Amino acid sequence: MWKVSLIALCISVCARVGVGTLHVKGAGAVLGGEAKLECWKDGADAQVGSLEWRDPKGNMLFFGEDKALQDPRFQMKLWDLNVSIILLKKLQHKDYGNYTCTDYGQSPPLNLSVPLVLWILPKPIELSGPHHEILENTWFNLSCTTSIGKPPADVYWRKETRRLPNQTVNVDVNGNVTCNVSILARLPDDEAPVHCVVNHTSGSSSVPWLLSIGHLPKLQISKANGSWMEGQELKVECRANGRPRPSGTRWFRGRTPVSSSLLLNFSSLTMSDAGLYECLSVNIFGQSRATFNLSVERLKSVTPTGVTTNTSAAPVPSNDWLLVAGSVCLCLFILIIIAVATARYFNNHKGSYVTHEGRVAPFDPEVETLTPNGGASHDGKEFFM
Ligand SMILES: *[C@@H]1O[C@H](CO)[C@@H](O)[C@H](O)[C@H]1NC(C)=O
Ligand SMILES: *[C@@H]1O[C@H](CO)[C@@H](O)[C@H](O)[C@H]1NC(C)=O
Ligand SMILES: *[C@@H]1O[C@H](CO)[C@@H](O)[C@H](O)[C@H]1NC(C)=O
Ligand SMILES: *[C@@H]1O[C@H](CO)[C@@H](O)[C@H](O)[C@H]1NC(C)=O
Ligand SMILES: *[C@@H]1O[C@H](CO)[C@@H](O)[C@H](O)[C@H]1NC(C)=O
Ligand SMILES: *[C@@H]1O[C@H](CO)[C@@H](O)[C@H](O)[C@H]1NC(C)=O
Ligand SMILES: *[C@@H]1O[C@H](CO)[C@@H](O)[C@H](O)[C@H]1NC(C)=O
Ligand SMILES: *[C@@H]1O[C@H](CO)[C@@H](O)[C@H](O)[C@H]1NC(C)=O
Ligand SMILES: *[C@@H]1O[C@H](CO)[C@@H](O)[C@H](O)[C@H]1NC(C)=O
Ligand SMILES: *[C@@H]1O[C@H](CO)[C@@H](O)[C@H](O)[C@H]1NC(C)=O
Ligand SMILES: *[C@@H]1O[C@H](CO)[C@@H](O)[C@H](O)[C@H]1NC(C)=O
Ligand SMILES: *[C@@H]1O[C@H](CO)[C@@H](O)[C@H](O)[C@H]1NC(C)=O
Repeated sequence: MWKVSLIALCISVCARVGVGTLHVKGAGAVLGGEAKLECWKDGADAQVGSLEWRDPKGNMLFFGEDKALQDPRFQMKLWDLNVSIILLKKLQHKDYGNYTCTDYGQSPPLNLSVPLVLWILPKPIELSGPHHEILENTWFNLSCTTSIGKPPADVYWRKETRRLPNQTVNVDVNGNVTCNVSILARLPDDEAPVHCVVNHTSGSSSVPWLLSIGHLPKLQISKANGSWMEGQELKVECRANGRPRPSGTRWFRGRTPVSSSLLLNFSSLTMSDAGLYECLSVNIFGQSRATFNLSVERLKSVTPTGVTTNTSAAPVPSNDWLLVAGSVCLCLFILIIIAVATARYFNNHKGSYVTHEGRVAPFDPEVETLTPNGGASHDGKEFFM
């Protein structure tokens, strides 16, 4: 029906009469607006000396250049040898209908009729839809309401330049039009606008609706499942990322809460800490969980003496100790040999030495018996210096 109106609006009627062809062009306008009606002749000998305009009721408006009806709302906009353009202002309901342009230069006179169409603009667009994040991969509906207008407007939803699928348009008896669209929420579309478009003959308008798409918390545990040593410090973080923001992150072991924050804390691991831990995070869409499997390895005991250890590692340090002790004994033994050798030497050259150190008693065989004990080694040391 509105397509018919559009065609009527854009009407351009042509007729061939003698030399030159007469044309008329109608218009559409809103109540209170203004419209321009045109009547012209083209062709070689195209003069319009005797053009006449009549309104829908048959009242003469203009004859040639002269105004016939004394209504200031009607004006001659352009008058030339082959064209007549009239302007109708502050349009009222009674002004709408067919206007006639008659060319009295022809015999018989030629009448062409052209419509002035009432336009009713659609109402401002109203949108409605969910005012919170939509869970990804779910369907939701948006609704766009306006009035269909006259001629009827085209009302639809678009994203960028693409008309969205899954739309329904419903026009009620009052001329209110509702265009509903079902959209599948996809995370990449978060914060992207979709528009409700109202395309009316008078112009196109659109209103955006920002998509807001959310998801369950996504959890990331800072440590991979694995094994730690007994006594080690361990901190495991459970980072939650969600839209809307998760209300909190907690750790559980079985049903027992072990941390009310994102941090699972062990200042010193014990064997009993080993087990499965679960990190939980919640937002409006629900709860997500991630598990962390902690293994603890028993610390191998290492004692310095190696006397009581039962591990294979224990003999190694005791072997080392024996080696050191052996080396010390060997050194002592060499020192004693040297001491004895030196004492013998001095015994043989007694005279020359006494002149220097008069107080040194003459060495007697006693010295040899003394050497094995500590006192002798002390003496030996003095010898070297
Ligand atoms: C009116 O006639 C003139 C020449 O006389 C021509 O140039 C002009 O295009 C014509 N106008 C129309 C609307 O046909
Ligand atoms: C205007 O004229 C067309 C035919 O040209 C006709 O169908 C229509 O009903 C007329 N409109 C009025 C308001 O008279
Ligand atoms: C054109 O209109 C005039 C006046 O309204 C009328 O007298 C005449 O008969 C019409 N001519 C035709 C061909 O319709
Ligand atoms: C969206 O609209 C369709 C039909 O228009 C309906 O079947 C569906 O239940 C609606 N979905 C929601 C989430 O309201
Ligand atoms: C939406 O449209 C697509 C194709 O345009 C169709 O495959 C799908 O079934 C429709 N979904 C709904 C809920 O209408
Ligand atoms: C529908 O149209 C009527 C009359 O034009 C109006 O009073 C009413 O508010 C409209 N309803 C909506 C939902 O726009
Ligand atoms: C469009 O959506 C609105 C609001 O969700 C609902 O009231 C209306 O019935 C729907 N209309 C159609 C034709 O689905
Ligand atoms: C409005 O509709 C007209 C006619 O159908 C079309 O040419 C134009 O591209 C449309 N504009 C928009 C913004 O959709
Ligand atoms: C630990 O292993 C479990 C399966 O046993 C797995 O579901 C979980 O994602 C792993 N967690 C980490 C942090 O590697
Ligand atoms: C974790 O341990 C550190 C010290 O190692 C401490 O400062 C922090 O408060 C602990 N956090 C929790 C949640 O126990
Ligand atoms: C946790 O880890 C231990 C040792 O790696 C393994 O034996 C056990 O099956 C794991 N538990 C789960 C639930 O994956
Ligand atoms: C000593 O070690 C062996 C194997 O290395 C083991 O079978 C034994 O039970 C251990 N004894 C003690 C007392 O730990």
